[in-house]
Amino acid sequence: MKKDFLCLTDWSLEELEQIFALTRELKEKQKRGEEHHLLKGKTLAMIFEKSSTRTRVSFEVGMYQLGGHALFLHSGTTQLGRGEPIKDTGRVMARYCDGIMIRTFSQQGVEELARCSEVPVINGLTDMYHPCQLMADLFTVIEHKGNYRDLAYCWIGDGNNMANSWINAATVFGFELRVATPKGYEAHPEVVERAKKLGARVLYTNDPAEAARGAHVLNTDVWASMGQEAEQKQREQAFAGFQINADIVKLADPGCIVLHCLPAHRDEEITDEVIEGPHSVVFDEAENRMHVQKAIMATLLG
Ligand code: CP
Ligand code: NVA
Repeated sequence: MKKDFLCLTDWSLEELEQIFALTRELKEKQKRGEEHHLLKGKTLAMIFEKSSTRTRVSFEVGMYQLGGHALFLHSGTTQLGRGEPIKDTGRVMARYCDGIMIRTFSQQGVEELARCSEVPVINGLTDMYHPCQLMADLFTVIEHKGNYRDLAYCWIGDGNNMANSWINAATVFGFELRVATPKGYEAHPEVVERAKKLGARVLYTNDPAEAARGAHVLNTDVWASMGQEAEQKQREQAFAGFQINADIVKLADPGCIVLHCLPAHRDEEITDEVIEGPHSVVFDEAENRMHVQKAIMATLLG
């Protein structure tokens, strides 16, 4: 049976920890310049319906380092953009390629693609989730703090795809998470409900200071995600005060680390001072996208 990587809660804690173990091994091999062609001769179709810098490059380079090949397909220049159904695209891609990575709007669309294609599908971001980013984020936490356990995690900002994914991560990995969002911008109710049902330790608040106090990991994301550009001005007002800045860092644990999936809007959701400061690990985090995705691809396509 093929397996897909669509949402963190589809995977068990043991399976995700195995991905971290493989990530560590592949990252070390890459740093030593040791060949690790686990996907020799394999191909990955990468379908993008939204923009990307990190996701595109990290998957493409990662696939090359594994001995395989990745194809960049943008909806604007494929038949997807002219209305060909995603399920037909998926079935055709599965005849040529060994796996599909997709970045799009609808999570249901990705699930449909996975149902219809005979090869593994990886979610490279939807409006609902960004699971590859979460794996990179937690791998970065492990590198800097030695472990992901026994830490308090703090999310400040929009209840968007990243916030939903952090709640899923708290559900699967069992750590304590505090989520501070403005009223009206909370995380998706389905995600919150599932987390509650599964006993996740998540505090929901409208007070960034409450979320940050004593936290070991601080995290935020843009106020307007891709597809919400028209709401930028309105969101700037709604999110005033939901910024990771020096005052918030002072409230957190003195050894805290600061994450941001990037791209960042400096001096909006995070100050330039913090992102350039000693607590920030955002570029290690961006690098780790490639290493964890290599492990995910090797697990699914290998
Ligand atoms: N963090 C992330 O997914 O970046 P891109 O949008 O550049 O791919
Ligand atoms: N929440 C952001 C994440 C970008 C990597 C977006 O969806 O645009």
